[in-house]
Amino acid sequence: MKRIGVLTSGGDAPGMNAAIRAVVRKGIYHDLEVYGIYYGYQGLINGNIEKMELGSVGDIIHRGGTKLFTSRSLEFKTEEGQLKGIEQLKKHGIEGLVIIGGDGSFRGAMKLTEKGFPCVGVPGTIDNDIPGTDFTIGFDTALNTIIQSVDKIRDTATSHERTYVIEVMGRDAGDLALWAGVAAGAESVLIPEKKEDFDDIIGRIESGNQRGKRHSIILIAEGVGSGVEFANKIKEKMGLETRVTVLGHIQRGGSPTAADRALASRLGAKAVDLLMEGKGGRMVGIQNNQIVDHNILDILKMERQPEVSMYHLSKELSI
Ligand code: F6P
Repeated sequence: MKRIGVLTSGGDAPGMNAAIRAVVRKGIYHDLEVYGIYYGYQGLINGNIEKMELGSVGDIIHRGGTKLFTSRSLEFKTEEGQLKGIEQLKKHGIEGLVIIGGDGSFRGAMKLTEKGFPCVGVPGTIDNDIPGTDFTIGFDTALNTIIQSVDKIRDTATSHERTYVIEVMGRDAGDLALWAGVAAGAESVLIPEKKEDFDDIIGRIESGNQRGKRHSIILIAEGVGSGVEFANKIKEKMGLETRVTVLGHIQRGGSPTAADRALASRLGAKAVDLLMEGKGGRMVGIQNNQIVDHNILDILKMERQPEVSMYHLSKELSI
């Protein structure tokens, strides 16, 4: 394989630039030509393809977002769109593709794989909702953004003795809320994977009040529902003064942490190794701190579960 391409797809995540940089630098180091495909699958269809040089990825390792831009392409969900994409790859002599993104992006990779085009998926999403890897690129940075925000909110929550509901991202997964809940010492964590009894939450607030804790921080994953509605439910039930913060897209930005930069570099480089070995239809990941790869079709059939031990720990430590 002498020519490979790289694209980012779906929601951007801090660390994607570090992964792009690793693909380009590793490829050039091994005498490959590396092509950047801008604007994800839509850019592939439109032929937004440019040869990358070592300098193309200079000074981006510390930058959030993706220098290749991204998109969510409806056209690529169609057979015709996928064939147009393959046409473009062939036109540029590209023989293998690294796709950095989440599960939606990997479905596109699966379609290309089924059409005989070698692809390797690199899990890049803040949601950490991809099976086959302990962590996705962007998750650690988003976690740090959340806990910095929660720490700030805790100051005012204690000063006013209020109950704060903080809504975090994660799409249908609860990892961001769960890990941030433990790391920030939230009194309660609500995740879509675990049905939480409302009365338990109320009971925890009341028992905290009885021992003199006059404020609460409740993290709710967006997959559970609206933080505003949940805060209103608490206010109606307890008459407590509540406030809500929806963290939104600040969780998607920021300079990637060292952990995310290192993970992105390792996974991007591994993806190039696999293509050089002629292996497509794979997804790279990290498990027990080892870089691994899986059949991408298997990954898409798997259901990812949150770290149950973290869930129980969050309950124990917020007693
Ligand atoms: O998948 C990453 C993510 O940030 C989710 O956590 C969130 O639900 C979604 O993207 C938001 O999508 P958009 O950026 O299109 O609003």
